[in-house]
This record gives sequence, structure tokens and C-alpha cells, in this order.
Amino acid sequence: MNSIIITGGAGFIGSHVVRLFVNKYPEYKIINLDKLTYAGNLANLKDIEDRPNYKFVRMDICDFEGVLKLMQDEHVDGIIHLAAESHVDRSIKDPFTFAQTNVMGTLSLLQAAKLYWESLPEGYEGKRFYHISTDEVYGALAMTHPEGIEPPFTTKASSGKHHLAYGEKFFTEDLKYQPHSPYSAAKASSDHFVRAFHDTYGLPTVVTNCSNNYGPYQFPEKLIPLFINNIRHRKPLPVYGKGENVRDWLYVEDHARAIDLIFHEGKIAETYNIGGFNEWKNIDIIHVLINTVDRILGRPEGADLDLITYVTDRAGHDLRYAIDSSKLQRELGWEPSLQFEEGIEKTVRWYLDNQAWMDNVTSGDYQRYYEDMYAKR
Ligand code: NAD
Ligand code: TYD
Repeated sequence: MNSIIITGGAGFIGSHVVRLFVNKYPEYKIINLDKLTYAGNLANLKDIEDRPNYKFVRMDICDFEGVLKLMQDEHVDGIIHLAAESHVDRSIKDPFTFAQTNVMGTLSLLQAAKLYWESLPEGYEGKRFYHISTDEVYGALAMTHPEGIEPPFTTKASSGKHHLAYGEKFFTEDLKYQPHSPYSAAKASSDHFVRAFHDTYGLPTVVTNCSNNYGPYQFPEKLIPLFINNIRHRKPLPVYGKGENVRDWLYVEDHARAIDLIFHEGKIAETYNIGGFNEWKNIDIIHVLINTVDRILGRPEGADLDLITYVTDRAGHDLRYAIDSSKLQRELGWEPSLQFEEGIEKTVRWYLDNQAWMDNVTSGDYQRYYEDMYAKR
């Protein structure tokens, strides 16, 4: 395995995966295939852009002919597919783009991989199509306990570890898909196509479903970077509904490490859930963010609590996500490396130290810069 396409490598998670692979595997050729939508930003990869084992190709995953030609030209034997439209609120406003990119784009990659690999003498031998998906395909979990105990309560995962939970059920790999948002419906559909390509044509696929990621380089439309930036600038913090929804948070580099492990050691045709048993109510996270930003900036404790502004709830807002990652921990020995407190501290410091990155992204300058760069070629 030495020539790998990583799609969506200029986005949040993709940039961490590209960086990890480029640094860890100098013998691999890493091709970052990205359309550079509003969410793609090559500044996320400044530190590795000149490496000899790295190449950027601006391309839409829906461009089937283009993808097929790239695979042939670069003798690609692995695809790690992260490119997607990824924000639930945008999917509510514009579901077509989500179906186009997440479903048709994935299908285009699958068909290109199938045609190219089938044309080789060795066929699918040594090849791998790794599709990155989300836990949101499983729908939403309830916040209940069989004995009526108020959440959060301590419970024990099938891996044997104790952790805090807001309900007795978890997302396991065998759970029925029940997506609620256009985003998760499109991701669910793409997961089904990936499985269908394995079952129908024997394409060597693997799928993972991960919980909410946080960390550096996340586009500030998502809760954590948006709120850090708003607290810094003392802007209102729009909390959807009562802020009682629960999300399960994983530091992005831990996700990237899991992707590396599963790409190399995961079993073909398997699904693995990725998460760190780290459930938080939105409102509690928001308090942690306010306290952390205020402490680092030397503001008095609680100075920015009045920024909290309750707004109309998101339509179809999933109540609780909680991943059971026991299978991945048991079978491949993966574990998250960071405690949440450590991860949040690192993340807040990163956004505060990289205000230029944030300003660039929020002003849209980075997009104008790349439009100019491509116009000149
Ligand atoms: P992101 O929105 O930050 O980045 C998406 C990237 O894909 C961008 O670089 C964008 O330019 C690129 N892209 C979009 N449409 C494209 C197209 N048609 N052709 C080529 N490139 C295109 O997303 P993210 O948060 O990094 O998520 C990456 C993947 O991980 C997605 O598949 C998402 O569903 C999945 N995921 C995300 C999370 C999370 O918390 N962010 C959790 C679980 C799974
Ligand atoms: P988000 O980061 O958009 O991720 P997802 O919807 O994929 O979980 O949102 C995380 C949670 O925060 C979700 O419950 C919605 C909530 N939220 C707000 O309350 N206000 C906001 O401005 C945003 C962006 C999210």
C-alpha cells in the first residue's frame, strides 16, 4: 500500500489525518483530493504542504472521470474518504447539496475505485476503500435509566470501563439506522452504498462511525470553535432549545489515530464505532468554555455567563448521541489518549493563539486567496 487518496483533506478532520499520514509514512504518497468548498482551507496544512510525499489535487468527488483518471495516473491503492458536507444546520437549509456530495460523491468514488482496481492484474489484492461516517446515522438516544435514576450516572461499558452516561442505551455497530437530519440521511445513504459495493462486487471496504470531534482547525460554524470565538469577542452564544442535548466528544487527533489503525488493521467489510465514552450536555460544555476562555484571558470568573442566549431549537434536534466503542477497543486495542479537560484546554488555547486563522476563515479571505491562485494557472 503506497499511494493513498485522502478526500476532504483540507477540512477539519481530514487535515489531521493528512498530517498524521504524511508525517508517519514518508514511504507513502498521500494525495489530498479536495474541492475546497467553504469548509476546505489549505492553511490547515501549511506545515506539511512542501513534503515530497504530499500532493494536493483540487477536485470534486462527484467528478467521476476526474477521480478515475487520478487513480490510474497515481496508481492509487487506498482511499480514505472524508469529503462531505458536514453541518446539520446547513443541511436543513440546503438538503440537495448534501445528497449530491455525500451520496453521489461517494458513489462516484466507489465506482472509480471498482473500475480501476478491477482493471489491474492483482484486482482487489492489497486495496482498501475506507469510508468515514458519523454516529448520527443511528438517530437519537433517550435519556432514561431502567430504575429511574437521574442522569448522568456511572455505568460500565462492555469493555469493562466505568464512565458517566445520560441514558442506558448506546450506539452499537448492529443498531438499526434511523437518521433524522438531511445530513445524517445523506451519510446513512452513503454508508449503504459502501456496504453494497462490498456485498455486490467484493470491493474491500471498511466503514467507521464516529462521535462529535473537537480540536484545532474546525470551521467556526460548529459549536465549540464558534462559541470560543464568540466568548473571546463577547458576542452572544446562541444555545438551541434548553441546551439539554447530549453529545459525545472526541479529540480530533484521537479520531485520526483510530483512522490510521483501522485503515491498516481493520477487517474488510467491518464497521467500527469510534468514541471515547465522553457524554456532555451542551449547556455544561458551554460553561466549561466560558470558564476556560475567561481564565486564560484573565477575565473575572463568570464574566461572560451573560452571553448565553437561548434561541429557537434546531428542527428535529437529536436529543442524545453516545457511542459504544468497545468493539474497536477490544479488537484493535484503540483508546482515546486525552481526557476531555486536557483536550478542551488545548483546543481553547489553540483558537486563542491562532486568531489570524480564525479571522481569515470568518472573513472569507482564504477563499478569495485560493480563487486568485487558481485563476492565475
Ligand atoms: P469539514 O466540513 O470540516 O470538511 C469537509 C471537507 O470536504 C472540506 O475540506 C471540503 O472542501 C471537502 N469537500 C466538500 N465537498 C466536497 C466535494 N464535493 N468534493 C471534494 N471535496 C469536498 O468536515 P469534517 O468535520 O472534517 O468531517 C469530515 C468527515 O468526517 C465527514 O465525512 C463527516 O461526515 C465525518 N464526521 C465528522 C464528525 C465531526 O464531528 N466533525 C464526526 C463524525 C464523522
Ligand atoms: P454541532 O457542532 O453543529 O454538531 P452536531 O449537530 O453534528 O452534533 O452542534 C453540537 C450541539 O450544539 C448540537 O446539539 C447543536 C448545539 N448547538 C447550539 O446549541 N448552538 C449553536 O450555535 C450550534 C452551532 C450548535
